[in-house]
Amino acid sequence: MESSNFLYVINWKIQFSFKETLLFCWNHKKKLDRISHSGDHKIVLCPSIDSLYLIAQLFEDSPYICVGAQNCSIYEKGEYTGEVSALSISQIGCEYCIVGHSERRIGFSENDEVIALKLEKILQNGLQPIICVGNTESQYEQKNSINAIKKQVSSACKVIQRVAQYSKICIAYEPVWSIGTGIVPENKYIETVFEQIGEISSKIAPKSAISFLYGGSVNEENVVHLKEIYGINGFLIGRAGLNFKKIEKIVT
Ligand code: PGA
Repeated sequence: MESSNFLYVINWKIQFSFKETLLFCWNHKKKLDRISHSGDHKIVLCPSIDSLYLIAQLFEDSPYICVGAQNCSIYEKGEYTGEVSALSISQIGCEYCIVGHSERRIGFSENDEVIALKLEKILQNGLQPIICVGNTESQYEQKNSINAIKKQVSSACKVIQRVAQYSKICIAYEPVWSIGTGIVPENKYIETVFEQIGEISSKIAPKSAISFLYGGSVNEENVVHLKEIYGINGFLIGRAGLNFKKIEKIVT
């Protein structure tokens, strides 16, 4: 994979309010443009749904800064109070959509079937999915991690095969126990997981169509070491993405 495809996906969750998101982006727009402009990587900003449209507009002319949603509905249209469709997300200028984050799998009881339905809508509406897969601490301890991850990847791959075999797909491996904890697995372990994911995904799409991301406590200190992971194409970043200085150190 070319380095220009290296992705830094910044997931702000709902850590910033609407006003805080706008202030952060206004204050750092020029600097974000500067650090993204080397052309060998892209930054994907994922604010909460309320500010997506404005942030997409703000960075419309920034070729290496994209905007992504953190979630979408399983429905396209209809009587579904409170939902936001992938169709609308694509219409407001987003290019990416995260799906299957463990905070949704665990906190909102989204199983592989729900995630598959969302993924289908994401692909049908021309958005690039960032499919999160991961394992819990107990699966890790019981040495059942790989099976759990394989199950999640296989379920996503079935949708990809059916809907859009040759779309660009990002698969982000995020061990649940690494998110927000400061604990990061060994590079070797992440490489093994990527290998296993690659084995499954290579059956449905060419290697160049799949990007492998790692997420979970990526920060300005461990990023240099994590960049050495064989086959890595990017990071999914939570807490460190709340601070511009940290983003700058991670990206440059
Ligand atoms: P973290 O979050 O970087 O704060 O661990 C990552 C994520 O939730 O994707």
